[in-house]
Amino acid sequence: MAKSKLSLWLLRDPGQAEVLRRPARPVDWPVIATPEFQRLIDEMFVTMHEADGIGLAAPQIGQSIRLAVINSQATENRQPLVLINPVIEQTSPEQVSMEEGCLSIPKVFGRVPRARSLWLAAVDRDGNRYRLEAHDLFARVIQHEIDHLNGRLYIDRSTEITSGKIPV
Ligand code: NI
Repeated sequence: MAKSKLSLWLLRDPGQAEVLRRPARPVDWPVIATPEFQRLIDEMFVTMHEADGIGLAAPQIGQSIRLAVINSQATENRQPLVLINPVIEQTSPEQVSMEEGCLSIPKVFGRVPRARSLWLAAVDRDGNRYRLEAHDLFARVIQHEIDHLNGRLYIDRSTEITSGKIPV
């Protein structure tokens, strides 16, 4: 069965921006086991890979729910990661500033200071709770994706837009 690609919602579209800017609602635990939800996760991975993204949050495909996926290139164990109802339990005081982009704001890049390390609690696609510690790029992507679930975009935190122009 072919896996289909979802359309990416963009900040420059006012109707889509409304969803990108809205705090997403938690995923109800019984929903996780449904074929529809499992297919949504698969389709988010396909969409992220085809767009060359390292992470993708559900509001970016028009679903205002607390779900995000992270590319295996960005995780510390090199396995793809699913985050359902994720919570950052602690961040390191040490911050690092690096350039970021976002699939919802194409061709724009900016420097963003973020915690270098964090401790995450979330639920996986089998409905099991997990905790992990993340550093550097992995920690940055987690923070970027959880921001999406709170209606925040990296441009809100950027100290300098290095390339492109933010859509108004
Ligand atoms: Ni993004």
